[in-house]
Amino acid sequence: MKFHNLLGRCIVPSIVLLPASAQSAHDLLDAVLNPSPESLHYSSYSSAIYFNATLFNQTPVAPTNYDRLEASAKEILPRNAYDYAAGGAGLEKTVASNRQAFDQVTYSTSPTSLHHINCPLKWNILPRVMRPVLPARNLSRVIFNRTLPAPIVMAPVGVQTLFHPDGERATSKVFGEEGLPFTLSTASSTGFADAATSNGEGNPRWYQLYWPSDDDLTRSYLRTALAEGYEVLVLTVDTWDLGWRTRDLDRGYFPFAGGVGVQIGLEDPVAHEQLGFNALAPNATAEQLQMASLYHVIVTSRGISPVWENLWKLREVWGDKPIVLKGVQSVEDAELAVKWGLDGVIVSNHGGRQIDGAVGSLTTLPAIVEAVKGKLTVGFDGGIRTGADIFKALALGADFVQLGRPILWGLAHEGERGARHVLKSLLAEFELTVGLSGCQSLTEVTKDLIVKTEG
Ligand SMILES: Cc1cc2nc3c(=O)[nH]c(=O)nc-3n(C[C@H](O)[C@H](O)[C@H](O)COP(=O)(O)O)c2cc1C
Ligand SMILES: *[C@@H]1O[C@H](CO)[C@@H](O)[C@H](O)[C@H]1NC(C)=O
Ligand SMILES: *[C@@H]1O[C@H](CO)[C@@H](O)[C@H](O)[C@H]1NC(C)=O
Ligand SMILES: *[C@@H]1O[C@H](CO)[C@@H](O)[C@H](O)[C@H]1NC(C)=O
Ligand SMILES: *[C@@H]1O[C@H](CO)[C@@H](O)[C@H](O)[C@H]1NC(C)=O
Repeated sequence: MKFHNLLGRCIVPSIVLLPASAQSAHDLLDAVLNPSPESLHYSSYSSAIYFNATLFNQTPVAPTNYDRLEASAKEILPRNAYDYAAGGAGLEKTVASNRQAFDQVTYSTSPTSLHHINCPLKWNILPRVMRPVLPARNLSRVIFNRTLPAPIVMAPVGVQTLFHPDGERATSKVFGEEGLPFTLSTASSTGFADAATSNGEGNPRWYQLYWPSDDDLTRSYLRTALAEGYEVLVLTVDTWDLGWRTRDLDRGYFPFAGGVGVQIGLEDPVAHEQLGFNALAPNATAEQLQMASLYHVIVTSRGISPVWENLWKLREVWGDKPIVLKGVQSVEDAELAVKWGLDGVIVSNHGGRQIDGAVGSLTTLPAIVEAVKGKLTVGFDGGIRTGADIFKALALGADFVQLGRPILWGLAHEGERGARHVLKSLLAEFELTVGLSGCQSLTEVTKDLIVKTEG
């Protein structure tokens, strides 16, 4: 008996992937292209791509590889817009550190990448095999009292019409289609109501606050957000003044002065009272539009840091709904967030756009998780480019992760279509990585599957 040495036997459920009734190759492909709802899963996006090419000679709207995606967006976008998104503070060392914290050794032809080899931290996935894994993995997780199909959130990103005229309308729609949270920035180029409409009734919507220096204005922004169904408040605490952004400085490029990324201010009734006019009225002058635009920027990036002691002012309006601090990098600040009654923190350095020479965001994640796990919901962003990156951040203990630049580069490719493609690609690659690492659900995606290797 060959089976004598087996430790045990169990019946692993099997499911029918393809209809036995298929009469032709086309029938088989059709089952893959139009899967029944119960067999629909993120990783079937790769089959959709292969079979679209096979049947319709049609390839994806944008590259699936991040470097090629960014390069392609760079060709499409005006130089100002591309640099605004790609750039960071100073020498952009923090932008680079965010990537290096995931994996230093890149296959680059550039001799300057050699210094990566000596970096001390490198996270690698150590997969397991021969486990009962089915095509549809359970990636769902409860975040702030909502069962999400996957713990993946659109990071707050302002001025999205720089990347396509549909801007936030397109990205909020695409995240809504997947039932994943969309975060509207205070610097958005679309107002609360329009983004809510395109996001879709009942979908999870978050609002990111750049905390105005004026309390009446703050209350007004928050009340409108609540009225439009935004249910989590993300308070960004690392950008109360703009970092030293060299690409933009060299051109004097400041999109807000041109009326982009100020829609929330332009639409606000309290701002209208304070200014004495509505810059969106049909008879408003260009001068008024510029004044109202600048007023919004100046009042929201005030050059004075917010402080813990004033958080009650937000609670007073936001009530018991979740409030999350975005831009936390130190264990001490995460512990203070517990003490001050916050619901969560997002480990982030603003994509390296604020401080040059700062630590890579992923490097700071494990210690913060260890200090506050269970007391706070811990989000993460900074440098996520692939499904494997999502896996690593979750394995290191993040409750959820946020997508930033990849979605913008997708948006540059025909708006909604490209943004959807990039989101679906990341979800597919993530689900594949979970499965190929031997996991059937997120509860199995733990530190045990990650090894820290020296450069
Ligand atoms: C073009 C651009 C605009 C951004 N605007 C905002 C914003 O309005 N509010 C905010 O909290 N973070 C903003 N961020 C930071 C993102 O929320 C997120 O922290 C960052 O993009 C993560 O880095 P990654 O995109 O490189 O992964 C912005 C980032 C970019 C690239
Ligand atoms: C496949 O082709 C259909 C029809 O043209 C299109 O709607 C769909 O988006 C394509 N899917 C992919 C993954 O490219
Ligand atoms: C998926 O995982 C979540 C969270 O662990 C759990 O609550 C849910 O019951 C699981 N769903 C299925 C279909 O197993
Ligand atoms: C969580 O959601 C449930 C159902 O959607 C609701 O009844 C409950 O009040 C919510 N709890 C909190 C703390 O928001
Ligand atoms: C525009 O019209 C409104 C109301 O009709 C009026 O109060 C305001 O003064 C007008 N603004 C300008 C710039 O003419």
